[in-house]
Amino acid sequence: LASIEVDVSQVAPGQSITAKWRGRPVFIRQRTDEEVKAAKGAPLGDLKDPVARNANLPSDAPATDENRAAPGKENWLVMVGVCTHLGCIPLGQSGDYDGWFCPCHGSTYDTAGRIRSGPAPENMAIPPFEFTSDTTLRIG
Ligand code: FES
Repeated sequence: LASIEVDVSQVAPGQSITAKWRGRPVFIRQRTDEEVKAAKGAPLGDLKDPVARNANLPSDAPATDENRAAPGKENWLVMVGVCTHLGCIPLGQSGDYDGWFCPCHGSTYDTAGRIRSGPAPENMAIPPFEFTSDTTLRIG
């Protein structure tokens, strides 16, 4: 399947679901305001990977929180849930930045899914997606 539709009406702030797209998990998280604030507060100079890795934006777009979040819906984060080190599936709401933690070799991602420490080289990838209604997401 090239694209999938996902109903996100049951995903409350602070919760996430995992969809499957092209054989890979896609994390769909409605972040809390605090999580968004934490991500926005990270100085860009502190980021290990300075680019957004967002398939919906130019490849050199900087890794700001705005460039990682869903357009016009900054609390929503949609990303391929695969560690950019060797492909394990990170655990949510874990690690030093309360984002994701990869148990395989200890990579830590922040609440925007950006790599902050450990061996992974890149931010987790944002797939092509759009909200087709307030509660429906199309991925791919
Ligand atoms: Fe995630 Fe190695 S696969 S840290």
